[in-house]
Amino acid sequence: IDRWINDRFNVGDRVIALVRSGLWQNLVVVPAVRTTVMPDEMSFEEGAALPISYVTAYLMLFEMANLKPGNSVLVHMAAGGVGIAATQLCHTVPDVIVFGTASSSKHETIARGGVTHPIDYRTRDYADEIRKISPKGVDIVLDPLGGADTQKSFNLLKPLGSLIVFGAANGVTGQKRNLMALAKLWYNQMSLTALKLMQTNKTIGGFHLGYITDDDIINRTLVELLEFYKQGKIKPCIDSCYHFEEVTDAMKRMHERQNIGKVLLLPSPKREEERQWSKAKA
Ligand SMILES: NC(=O)c1ccc[n+]([C@@H]2O[C@H](COP(=O)([O-])OP(=O)(O)OC[C@H]3O[C@@H](n4cnc5c(N)ncnc54)[C@H](OP(=O)(O)O)[C@@H]3O)[C@@H](O)[C@H]2O)c1
Repeated sequence: IDRWINDRFNVGDRVIALVRSGLWQNLVVVPAVRTTVMPDEMSFEEGAALPISYVTAYLMLFEMANLKPGNSVLVHMAAGGVGIAATQLCHTVPDVIVFGTASSSKHETIARGGVTHPIDYRTRDYADEIRKISPKGVDIVLDPLGGADTQKSFNLLKPLGSLIVFGAANGVTGQKRNLMALAKLWYNQMSLTALKLMQTNKTIGGFHLGYITDDDIINRTLVELLEFYKQGKIKPCIDSCYHFEEVTDAMKRMHERQNIGKVLLLPSPKREEERQWSKAKA
């Protein structure tokens, strides 16, 4: 193990650590295999914003859905951390068209970030909007919503297309647990037989980063992503940073769906002048 560590790390290296849970601390111990050295030009904030969103987006697009030049991709929640990562990664492949759903107030930012066709899912039916532009549908859908949206996304696939399900955001509707929303999500969850899949010539995959236990998969993906970062092909989008003592404000921002990109927690204590400034702002 000493040799393994000496081969990979130098004294003073700054690293990205990726573990399942327990990182909301100012001191953590993680296995060396779960860390990757950060490029010099990367800030700690970018290092924190990168792993979950980009590893998730990368493995879904490249390892599961086999993104190819000329493909069209529907990215739901396109202004979120994973949505922004997926959009940037789509553009590492030539001529990819990205449809992205988000609130209209976020369209300018996601269009600048590479979404070819932003769609306001709150006021429009995204399936109708996509069919107007691409009557045959899309090659890939990344679905973090679940429930009725999974079926709708499946119907939008072109033959030989792939749907990757990676979340159930439709089950969360407010600050309190909503049993009706969960029941609706469960009731509308798509069920399919292998025969039906064969008859439609489509692929469905499910992805959950937390269940990837093979460190090699994570490490080689992070190495690939840091190479994209060094080449300027990807750049984590940081919405806001909060100190530990402001964690409720950070959670509120996410619950109210105000963020564009990642909300970060900073382990350093808030400085006195920042404290005075927040008080004055309030
Ligand atoms: N399976 C995995 O390994 C994995 C890994 C990472 C994340 N995820 C899941 O992927 C989803 C996206 O994560 P993220 O980090 O990108 O989220 P995020 O940065 O917090 O983005 C959330 C944004 O998505 C939009 N949105 C649209 N429909 C929504 C809904 N039904 N519920 C909540 N937000 C909705 C909202 O923006 P608008 O203003 O546009 O509505 C919201 O601001 C989450 O459900 C998360 O649990 C799964």
